[in-house]
Amino acid sequence: MKLAGKVAIVTGGARGIGRATAGELARAGCDVAFCDLTESAPETVKDIESAGRWALYLDADVGDRAQMEAMFAEVVNRWGRIDILVNNAAVNIRKPLLELEVNDVATVWGTTLWGVFHCSQLAARQMVKQGVGGSIVMISSIHAARGFPDSTAYNGAKAAVNHMAATWASELAAHRIRVNTIEPGWTDTPGERTFFTEAFIREQGRLLPLGRLAKPEEIAAAVRFLVSDEAAYITGSVLRVDGGLILPR
Ligand SMILES: NC(=O)c1ccc[n+]([C@@H]2O[C@H](COP(=O)([O-])OP(=O)(O)OC[C@H]3O[C@@H](n4cnc5c(N)ncnc54)[C@H](O)[C@@H]3O)[C@@H](O)[C@H]2O)c1
Repeated sequence: MKLAGKVAIVTGGARGIGRATAGELARAGCDVAFCDLTESAPETVKDIESAGRWALYLDADVGDRAQMEAMFAEVVNRWGRIDILVNNAAVNIRKPLLELEVNDVATVWGTTLWGVFHCSQLAARQMVKQGVGGSIVMISSIHAARGFPDSTAYNGAKAAVNHMAATWASELAAHRIRVNTIEPGWTDTPGERTFFTEAFIREQGRLLPLGRLAKPEEIAAAVRFLVSDEAAYITGSVLRVDGGLILPR
């Protein structure tokens, strides 16, 4: 798929990996619609528009089916098509199993699992209708296959995301819709900085194999590759972008 003139949707695009991805896809030639949970997201809009592409921001919750139906309808109404979906929005509530509330699990799964289902199904239906293929990318996590502690709901959701992606890659290949997964390692985003101090991030970053956390732009570059024509024969794959974090040391 050539990216010039393509229409992309990025969820959770106001900051972090989502913002970097929206900007990267715009610089590659896409018009980009993105959603988040704030009234406005001027920085991402500016990133997209300064690449000379159209931006559309929607204050919409990926876990809310009606809001996602409205968002997909709005994008199709405005730009006539959807070629790329990046499922980026996710939340984590970090607590040990023994302290976790049922509501915590419901909150994490509402965004991190159901959000991916709603958006992927709506995107796939639209792409099938268009009849010329498309590309869906999951921003999963190295947590999908590894039981890092205090993240029961998040780890479970990310494992499910990987497996749903593989399932949809099988189902949608006949429609030339490719579905791939990226597993970022520890990435320096506003979300991570709500959990950790600057000093902790620097100190722990030095202990990683490449000596630092990932930058959001490094995850965005992997997304751009996976949705491009260069990756035309890649579907059902998992691309780890973790700086070697999970390698034996
Ligand atoms: N940062 C990391 O170390 C890391 C590592 C592995 C995977 N990831 C994954 O990368 C993705 C982005 O992470 P990040 O660190 O940039 O996060 P972040 O918290 O900095 O940004 C996430 C954005 O998603 C938005 N969002 C949350 N819930 C939403 C909802 N229900 N509907 C719409 N938007 C919503 C948030 O408001 C926020 O703007 C996530 O899927 C995360 O699981 C991150």
